[in-house]
Amino acid sequence: MKLVICPDAAAARAVAARVIARQIRRKPSSVLGLATGRTMEAIYQLLVREHAELGLDFSEVTTFNLDEYVGLPGSHEQSYRHYMRAHLFDRVNIRSEHAHVPDGAAANPDVEALAYEAAIVSSGGIDLQLLGLGENGHIGFNEPLSALRSRTRAVTLDRATREQNAGMFGGDPDCVPARALTMGTGTILDARETLMVVTGAAKADILARVVEGPVSAFVPGSALQLHERCLVVLDEAAASGLTQRDVIAWQMSHDPELTALLEAVQG
Ligand code: GLP
Repeated sequence: MKLVICPDAAAARAVAARVIARQIRRKPSSVLGLATGRTMEAIYQLLVREHAELGLDFSEVTTFNLDEYVGLPGSHEQSYRHYMRAHLFDRVNIRSEHAHVPDGAAANPDVEALAYEAAIVSSGGIDLQLLGLGENGHIGFNEPLSALRSRTRAVTLDRATREQNAGMFGGDPDCVPARALTMGTGTILDARETLMVVTGAAKADILARVVEGPVSAFVPGSALQLHERCLVVLDEAAASGLTQRDVIAWQMSHDPELTALLEAVQG
């Protein structure tokens, strides 16, 4: 695991967007794993700008989103398909048949989950998986107690998740769908690289458990400790619960990959 602690959330988003854009430029036919949530909105905005102003080309890119609410068709305003169209897909030159989101309206979610796994495999596998972090430690919708080796499947959402995501459903947690389709933790760990972006003080405690705590099914994000190429990008607020700051600071100022990344976004 490599960590980059940025002075503020804007810098963290710039680092994340740079890593994604670099991946697309290095391999135009990249397969990207994408995430939703408030943290990602500004990252997608930066990628849209890079597409418009610097010609970042999505024409050969394939994407797979982490998750979708069961019961919501892609046309529903609160669906993650709708979110992705609004923030990215409709604003860059990605081919619609290359932009995959699990189908929340599938008649049989178990069949949809298997098909989604198969589609990831037949695309050649995910090159770079973007991840946020839920306040309860979830990645995708892998809630506490998810098996560390789980695959794409239908899950029951944790109460904390329904409370955290209630804002998009009129503020009422009971209006948030009860179930979701999500890539599994094992599916996520199969990506060649992972990029987790966490900002804000509300996630400081759980982020410390993800990075410094034991690997535990109770904190699904901690599974990333097992990933060989995992970059975690933070702002100071999200990093404020970490106790090993000296170790992290040393790595940040001596690892050539991290110093190059920081220099690039600083100027
Ligand atoms: C949702 C998504 C997660 C995401 C989380 C964080 O629950 N399923 O993949 O990590 O939101 O959201 P935010 O960035 O809004 O805190």
